[in-house]
Amino acid sequence: MSSTTTPQNDVPHIPVMLPEVLRAMNLNEGEVAIDATFGAGGYSRALLHTGAQVVAIDRDPTAIAAGQEIVDEFEGRLTLSHGCFSDLDRLAIEAGHSQVDAVVADIGVSSMQIDQADRGFSFQKDGPLDMRMEMTGPTAADVVNTFERPDLTRIIGILGDERQASRISAEIVERRAKTPFETTLQLAKCVEDVLGRKAKDRIHPATRTFQALRIFVNRELDELAEALLASERILKPGGRLVVVTFHSLEDRLVKRFLQDRSEVSGGSRHLPQVDTKDLTFKQIKRGAVSASKEEAAINPRSRSAKLRSAIRTECAIGEIDRSVFGLPRLAELATGGKR
Ligand SMILES: C[S@@+](CC[C@H](N)C(=O)[O-])C[C@H]1O[C@@H](n2cnc3c(N)ncnc32)[C@H](O)[C@@H]1O
Repeated sequence: MSSTTTPQNDVPHIPVMLPEVLRAMNLNEGEVAIDATFGAGGYSRALLHTGAQVVAIDRDPTAIAAGQEIVDEFEGRLTLSHGCFSDLDRLAIEAGHSQVDAVVADIGVSSMQIDQADRGFSFQKDGPLDMRMEMTGPTAADVVNTFERPDLTRIIGILGDERQASRISAEIVERRAKTPFETTLQLAKCVEDVLGRKAKDRIHPATRTFQALRIFVNRELDELAEALLASERILKPGGRLVVVTFHSLEDRLVKRFLQDRSEVSGGSRHLPQVDTKDLTFKQIKRGAVSASKEEAAINPRSRSAKLRSAIRTECAIGEIDRSVFGLPRLAELATGGKR
């Protein structure tokens, strides 16, 4: 297993569930794979070692820049594309592949992004309250300083699964009236002051609030939903889709999509089963796969990982209905929530 280090602090990003990913990708020499989340290139490297060609995508320009040495090492078999995975079919076509044999996505942020204080993802390191993977568009500070309190409550409550969202948003609104939020530690302290911190707490009280803001700022759930639809379009029959997620909102989205695409909905006992839906995927295993005990012991990040995979069938894609994802209705806040 390879790991790549950041120039700043030499903390490696350890690829999560790599053996399980490789097994599900089932690549043969000469096949074409998309690594939708290049990061430190841990998956891409391993895919390249199977002899496959890889189109690797990342929305973070620093990840793409750092990956150039892997491009050189594999002599033309790796194409790096800066962009969002919602667009992965277009990016693959641009790289010369109208169909691919496998797609993998490892959702979330990399250790390098969290470790670099100036990216503003960490409540443990002081930095600008930013959290933008792509370094464009509104920052987390913009959201915290300008959104109406009910919108902040919804974001923190829904995307952070935070039961105390209303109390946190009240305190944010009170504090920002005196001093706008600029740094990660300012927000972390604000949340900690609201929730308190007990010695037995396993996670920092600001964990859920930071997660919510990060997901919102980067439109992560919409991105994931669109990436699943794009994979459905670009995978050839027999092509494999492999997704690793780290929290329940994301896993639920993948689960709902695969259930919709791979299961004939059960009819009543008394009625004939009628389902004309096109089943574009076949799931090898119905449930999610978790990291092994051994991996969980070494890499704490892997403990919450869930891997789901499916194989593209020959069925043509039917009408697209995004309600299958059950996405929370938050997108309108991004434009309409400003004061
Ligand atoms: C968990 S890391 C991937 C680590 C990688 N598998 C490895 O082994 O090094 C996730 C990466 O996906 C990127 N990312 C997140 N959302 C994205 C999106 N919507 N489009 C493209 N890249 C995205 C992040 O910038 C980050 O570099």
